[in-house]
Amino acid sequence: MTVEDLYPVPAELAKSAWADKANYEAMYRASVEDPAAFWGEHGKRVDWIKPYTQVKDVSYDKDDLHIRWYYDGTLNVSYNCIDRHLETKGDRTAIIWEGDDPSDDKTLTYRELHEEVCKFSNVLKAQGIKKGDRVTLYMPMVVEAAVAMLACARIGAVHSIVFGGFSPDALAGRIRDCESNCVITADEGLRGGKTIPLKENTDKALESCPDCTTCIVIRRTGVETGWVAGRDVWYHEEMAKVDADCPPEEMNAEDPLFILYTSGSTGQPKGVLHTTGGYIVYAAMTHRYVFDYHDGDIYWCTADVGWVTGHSYIVYGPLANGATTLMFEGVPNYPTVSRFWEVCDKHQVNIFYTAPTAIRALMRDGDEPVRKTSRSSLRLLGSVGEPINPEAWRWYHEVVGDSRCPIVDTWWQTETGGILITPLPGATDLKPGSATRPFFGIDPIMVDNDGKVLEGACEGVLCIKDSWPGQMRTVYGDHERFYQTYFATFPGRYFTGDGARRDEDGYYWITGRVDDVINVSGHRMGTAEVESALVAHDKVSEAAVVGYPHDIKGQGIYAYVTLTAGVESTEELRTELAKWVRQEIGPIATPDLIQWAPGLPKTRSGKIMRRILRKVAENEYGSLGDTSTLADPAVVDELIENRMNR
Ligand code: WTA
Repeated sequence: MTVEDLYPVPAELAKSAWADKANYEAMYRASVEDPAAFWGEHGKRVDWIKPYTQVKDVSYDKDDLHIRWYYDGTLNVSYNCIDRHLETKGDRTAIIWEGDDPSDDKTLTYRELHEEVCKFSNVLKAQGIKKGDRVTLYMPMVVEAAVAMLACARIGAVHSIVFGGFSPDALAGRIRDCESNCVITADEGLRGGKTIPLKENTDKALESCPDCTTCIVIRRTGVETGWVAGRDVWYHEEMAKVDADCPPEEMNAEDPLFILYTSGSTGQPKGVLHTTGGYIVYAAMTHRYVFDYHDGDIYWCTADVGWVTGHSYIVYGPLANGATTLMFEGVPNYPTVSRFWEVCDKHQVNIFYTAPTAIRALMRDGDEPVRKTSRSSLRLLGSVGEPINPEAWRWYHEVVGDSRCPIVDTWWQTETGGILITPLPGATDLKPGSATRPFFGIDPIMVDNDGKVLEGACEGVLCIKDSWPGQMRTVYGDHERFYQTYFATFPGRYFTGDGARRDEDGYYWITGRVDDVINVSGHRMGTAEVESALVAHDKVSEAAVVGYPHDIKGQGIYAYVTLTAGVESTEELRTELAKWVRQEIGPIATPDLIQWAPGLPKTRSGKIMRRILRKVAENEYGSLGDTSTLADPAVVDELIENRMNR
């Protein structure tokens, strides 16, 4: 590591930050030496109805897998995100909403948010929704999405947000999996000047969800939509009928807060379950330390609430800290590629958190669209969702941040609830491309493929030794799958699914997934899901999907398709299959490249050798390794011959 590659903590920042180097070292040591004492203390960051006396009870054993934090305490998350701020910060802006159209914006104070949430809680109750019920949200990025989340939390209903880009089928599968009896949606979404038919998609989805008997619809664009009497109600009409008095439900720390579906290496997406106490403590504490949030700062995370980043770092973490959080409905390049920076200037954003894919896309348009804006309010930048390549990191730092703002490259997962490996801006010298050091309470361990623990500088698979309060508690409805996915590979540890390198300074460099999950523009996609969508098409007999390096998206989707006998491999069919996958799952799953593969490389026992498919997709076919176990080695030559990524 050359000296130029190290970006030291700005001295001024170290003075005012929540943690400087010495604080970090001391707190970190305390947190891993005695987690129960550490988290027992920091659990007090949130308000409890009945304070906990027990902090931690965790076992990763196969027969006794359980994770419990603060488990005899009671609290309410919506109270913590709203009510407790009313006395001192009632008139402070809680949410700044910036619409897709730059002329469209609004703000909500904590008092106004409180009123909306209480009213919507009463709407949910009037619709018969009770504590423990699962409520699906299929929403655009409007204030009502945050209101609905907080209202569910207020009455103890469990929300499951499905990203608005998912198809009716994907939505239906998620509604059925968690037996949700209510869905909240909008007539249409609006992004980049284009509309998304959310209600129409919901209508299609609900055809196969007989138990989902309530649909609450927010009017966003005013388009005419289908209507099922007795099932569908308008948000604004119901809100007019209720009062604004709704006491928060007393929840046990381990009562479920939300389910969020995420892709894994096999099968259909799993419902990641997060609970109440530990999650909110962890979201609040990470938000405060990682973004060095101070009272009055304007904070903007560009994620969608359909992903975990939106849950923890648009809504729960910031609001638990009484922050001002910006919610953006649009996209980075609409109406122009300066939009992000114009929004920063317009709302005087101090902390800006986005994904590498957005940075790489904007980088292509050069410095001018950035330089012409001021960005003088910015103090800190963040990155999340995938590894950020050093080139993009430097551009983000020099051009966007005028070489003034540190970048926190935050590594975490839907499963982890909050950030696990990250710089702290006042404490960590930065290296472009490295997520740097663990957050408090996180003890990463590197293992080789045989589970042997690696010491010092090394490269291997990333596991986490102990539990932390924000950790997921189970796969909804499938505890066995929870064990198999995260604890069976390396018994006694949490297996992240990511590969990493640890350097001589103890810095972590995440290298990407080691399983069959691909990361497309920061969104997780299971190759098995795309494959099963492809084979559902009657002209496809077999399909294998892998990721390949993509300049903007990080990874692209590369599909090998074997057609049914007699079907001709035409360009039209290629387009048709891409469109088919879009319809089956959603636009984010659309294959970038489809290669016709009369045969797939299989072992004699019939197992597809994905390693070979990955190499060919990467255009690295010179180093295929051992192919002698293949049933028919000639298949490989034909695949190389017709490879799509040259
Ligand atoms: C990847 C998103 C490198 C990683 C919060 C992880 C990252 C998966 C980073 C989780 C980062 C996320 N550097 N890789 N800073 N952040 N990842 O569940 O592969 O949508 O396992 O959660 O994204 O994606 P998920």
